[in-house]
Amino acid sequence: MASRSAPARLLSFGSFVWFAACAPAATPPPREAPPAPACAARVDALLAKMTLDEKLGQMVQAERKVVEKGDVAKYFLGSILSGGGSAPGGATPGEWADMTDALHAEARTTRLGIPLLYASDAVHGHNNVVGATIFPHQIGLGCTRDPALIEAVARATAQEIAGTGVDWTFAPLVGPARDPRWGRFYETYAERPEVSGLLGAAAIRGLQGDRLGGTGVLACAKHFAGDGLTTFGTTKGEGLIDRGDVQMGDDDFMRVAVAPYASSIAAGVGSIMVSFNSVRGTPMHANEALVTDVLKRRMRFEGVVISDWSALRLLPGSYYEQVVASVNAGIDVTMDAEKLYWRDFLRTAKEAVQKGDISMARVDDAVRRVLAVKCELGVFDRAQRTDRALTAKIGSAEHRALARRAAQASFVLLRNEANLLPLSKAARLVVTGSGASSLARQAGGWTVDWQGAEGKSFPGTTILEGLRAAGDPARVHADPAKPADIAIVVASEPPYAEWEGDAKDPALSNEDVDAIDRANKTGLPVVVVLLSGRPIAVAPHLRKASAWLAAWLPGSEGAAVADVVFGDVTPTGKLAHAWPVRAGASGPPLFDFGFGLSYPTSSTKR
Ligand code: GLC
Repeated sequence: MASRSAPARLLSFGSFVWFAACAPAATPPPREAPPAPACAARVDALLAKMTLDEKLGQMVQAERKVVEKGDVAKYFLGSILSGGGSAPGGATPGEWADMTDALHAEARTTRLGIPLLYASDAVHGHNNVVGATIFPHQIGLGCTRDPALIEAVARATAQEIAGTGVDWTFAPLVGPARDPRWGRFYETYAERPEVSGLLGAAAIRGLQGDRLGGTGVLACAKHFAGDGLTTFGTTKGEGLIDRGDVQMGDDDFMRVAVAPYASSIAAGVGSIMVSFNSVRGTPMHANEALVTDVLKRRMRFEGVVISDWSALRLLPGSYYEQVVASVNAGIDVTMDAEKLYWRDFLRTAKEAVQKGDISMARVDDAVRRVLAVKCELGVFDRAQRTDRALTAKIGSAEHRALARRAAQASFVLLRNEANLLPLSKAARLVVTGSGASSLARQAGGWTVDWQGAEGKSFPGTTILEGLRAAGDPARVHADPAKPADIAIVVASEPPYAEWEGDAKDPALSNEDVDAIDRANKTGLPVVVVLLSGRPIAVAPHLRKASAWLAAWLPGSEGAAVADVVFGDVTPTGKLAHAWPVRAGASGPPLFDFGFGLSYPTSSTKR
């Protein structure tokens, strides 16, 4: 039988003491609601009929590319996912709906007809679907400080998710982040747990509705816990920080990393994903003290705990020991998704149950949670055939207008010497820089493909197109040789996701520094619009431009930049992460948490 390690026991005691004694007063009470009574009885009755194979099928999640026709029925699969960019055919909404309808129908042919859940990462809109509205990434949404707006964005996203027959999304990321060297910094709302918890709860309400089972989908608060708090250099591999070790003391860890999940639970989140990182050397995927003792027992989380992508395979020991350790830590669904790993899990978990290393009680707890969430979602009682009226709403003008409004509200004005901004629409503009005409760079990672949409196309408006449409097209051009009154440089980062975005010293590219220097040498007033997934090192260049606008990763609606630059909308964004002089540097930040300039009231053209 897998035993608790000493560190886990210590953490268990420490965490009980901490959480009992000083859970932040601002944290809403843990979700009291166990499964609705009707579901509890229904689930118990179903569980009593299930074979071990039928139960274990609910505890694994396979990736769509390695599931053959007939596998759902043969292995009683409870859920399937699309990894980043994994889509049928040309990734159109109709192709998605046809795929999920077929998989849902196959699940109904099993002996007990337990419905399948299909999952996909809708990180900023239903981003694995070509044609979906691509909303601003969370780093920008965090600067809006507007829970109602974030809830509206999530609700529109949920409609587009449901319009492809998908039931479950792995969003929002609710943990705080503090080190811009992390490649997932842009997936976080804020550096402060109370802000990321509050905004994460708003996203959960938008995705799921006020309760599971309405027109919403199943949300997933992630990654529990400490994903954005790892210490640089504690990950295998040069210069990586993703999936590293959190070296915080117990009290700080509970207050900063764990507390946001109390807000998620209070918002009714139906699933929580465990993180790749470790906490003072104990991997989260084997951390029974935090996953079971704190999250499930102390915080009374009644939903489903899912692993991250084959994360159990990073644990010490044989695959048998990895399965035993992670399931016994409290993981209910194991995403062992690629190749035929999911079949390894089914075979190995069955062996562990038969040997007594995983108890039937643990299996029943996991399956009961999965079935209860499915029951509360209502999927037992509906045919799970995509509502094609919702499919038609994907990328609708209404959703794109909302995305444009969210982008406007996310921008942070960092510098505006002599009140250069807002500009007159009669001004002659020369627009250069790596991000001026790049949908891929304004959308960032997790767009069409896992690492972003470089070389791929999707519906949207670039920043240059937006400036031309708002101003006088003949007076807005990209040719520095042509006469102009103002130079705008759109600097940007190439898209990235996860560890591929880890960077020792995130800074402006040489291409963009050259563009800023060239603009500066013209003697024209210069505006820099910065597209980035994090605060990057800009201090050496700030004075080369009169105005700097942090636009983060606004998504498909690049026209939002023109709305703010021309003053149709005044910038209201406030930094939700302090902006360091350089990533990893100590000392005062270049711009504090909460910083953000606005326009003089007389200048807003509404
Ligand atoms: C990835 C990410 C996680 C995502 C999952 C499924 O590795 O860590 O955020 O939800 O796999 O794509």
